Amino acid sequence: MEDRLIPLCSEPEIATRVSALAQAIARDYAQRPPVLVGILKGAFIFLADLVRCLEIPIAGIEFLSLSSYGAGTVSSGEVTMNLGLSAAAVAGKPVIMVEDIVDTGLTTQRAIAYLHSLHPASIALCALLDKPDRRQVPVTIDYLGMTIPDRFVVGYGIDFDQQYRHLPALYTIAPESGGT
Ligand code: IMP
Repeated sequence: MEDRLIPLCSEPEIATRVSALAQAIARDYAQRPPVLVGILKGAFIFLADLVRCLEIPIAGIEFLSLSSYGAGTVSSGEVTMNLGLSAAAVAGKPVIMVEDIVDTGLTTQRAIAYLHSLHPASIALCALLDKPDRRQVPVTIDYLGMTIPDRFVVGYGIDFDQQYRHLPALYTIAPESGGT
């Protein structure tokens, strides 16, 4: 069965928000080049666009892979670490973690705890989307693209069961089965 995709945020609107985030980061990190750590897989397009808008030097780009969803639209609550990074990549350096969506907050919490163990100089969080309605643990988002209601989102790197990541805009998904 086909899923119904409802437009949430157009390409130009995403570009405007990404550019604003890059400007805010550039203001704060002009004197201390950050390492950007993208959370795979959902943040890969967001991170690629964000760094191309950043008009300051950076100290590196790294990736962490964590998963909590399996094939459904509701977080399993179990966060699995699939890929870490070398301590040398972030130790003593300012880190900006780049996430697609903060939902329950469990992935962010796990990723921040992991990064802390690698002794960076600081950790900030940049997220494209915030779904605060389902938060289970407190999360501070230092750089936020936009807050959205509790809907399942796809496109712009974000998937449903590995589909739709390639779509250049953001959509909410309404499964034919009657979900929201
Ligand atoms: P959390 O651990 O519940 O905060 O979930 C964070 C991760 O779950 C995000 O980085 C996404 O990869 C995924 N996620 C959360 N909401 C959605 C959604 O609406 N669509 C697709 N993936 C989502």
